[in-house]
Amino acid sequence: MRERSKIIFHRGMQRSSEWLEPLKKIADQYALITDQTVYALFGPAMKKKLEECFKVFVISIAPGEESKTREQKATIEDQLFKFGLGRDGAIIAMGGGVICDLVGFVAATYCRGVPFLSIPTTLLAQVDACIGGKVGVNTEQGKNLIGAFYPAQLTLIDVDFLSTLPRSELLNGRAEILKYGVIDSPALLQMEVNESLIKSCCEIKLRIVEEDPHERGVRRILNFGHTIGHACEAASGYFFSHGAAVALGMVGEAYLSHQLGFLKKEELGIIKEIIRDAGFSLALPAPADQIMKFMQRDKKAQKQQPHFVLLERIGKAHAFEGSYCTPISSHLIKEALLWLDSQ
Ligand SMILES: NC(=O)c1ccc[n+]([C@@H]2O[C@H](COP(=O)([O-])OP(=O)(O)OC[C@H]3O[C@@H](n4cnc5c(N)ncnc54)[C@H](O)[C@@H]3O)[C@@H](O)[C@H]2O)c1
Repeated sequence: MRERSKIIFHRGMQRSSEWLEPLKKIADQYALITDQTVYALFGPAMKKKLEECFKVFVISIAPGEESKTREQKATIEDQLFKFGLGRDGAIIAMGGGVICDLVGFVAATYCRGVPFLSIPTTLLAQVDACIGGKVGVNTEQGKNLIGAFYPAQLTLIDVDFLSTLPRSELLNGRAEILKYGVIDSPALLQMEVNESLIKSCCEIKLRIVEEDPHERGVRRILNFGHTIGHACEAASGYFFSHGAAVALGMVGEAYLSHQLGFLKKEELGIIKEIIRDAGFSLALPAPADQIMKFMQRDKKAQKQQPHFVLLERIGKAHAFEGSYCTPISSHLIKEALLWLDSQ
């Protein structure tokens, strides 16, 4: 049986030392890798806590998606060599999804893999990016095209970190929470953001990922909204946020589900309203043709034909012969994009 990735919920990590206990079993020196914004907020307190028990190196990089590159990965690796972090050391990613993805990828290949821990500090990272082991970097060709499956050995979630998060970042996380509601658990659609909701999201993702760790079937449902979403992000030059793109993508992919005869019109309407009520816009961030071009390069595209996760109803994705990934003609995709823009 595969070992379950461990997630510990712990409030007030900056003040308590309890959470250090499980880390003692993993390593006695840690590289704490974060971004400058997160470091300014929580870095000194968290470093001080870790130093109660361990030798600690800190690496703090520029915040934002622009840092999720092969070049940045190499720079971090060089710094780790300079510090002398060996195979008996471990790496902690503290930050949002960018840090979790980038640092997880560093941990996956540094000395052929060292233990990796994550302390997610954005809502998006707490409900999504820190779970499931997908780590990687972006290239000019698109998002997350170079990477690995390397789950964190331990993830520590403290909802207190979210108190400093700007509204726009909370909204990014909200999009992924709505996604879990739409593909799996409609009850989540009505819940307030709190620790209990975050736990439910982690449970859903863990359950799906454990069933299909390498994304050969059911795990693909977690990509609902992401085929259109990723293409919108890329076509906007990453100006458009991940959450806004996924929210828009979910409505577009619900439209495709309806046009192909799966999802009822009323349910398409409900999804559209939920996304709108949460504060997202349905206007395209770039011309439809430009978005189409990026979609043809999507990882799920085969022979340049984009594939989509479709819904049968709210709470149930269409299995499509167990692949959960349905090819759709360019004509219909373009129609969906133009429909979105007209809403
Ligand atoms: N691996 C996965 O399964 C997975 C899933 C979803 C998304 N992702 C990836 O996650 C990334 C997006 O993650 P994100 O939205 O967390 O972005 P992010 O890591 O860029 O964080 C967003 C911003 O919030 C700041 N920040 C972080 N914590 C803060 C806090 N507590 N208070 C104030 N500011 C804080 C960061 O410095 C950054 O400027 C994308 O690269 C996406 O591809 C990965």
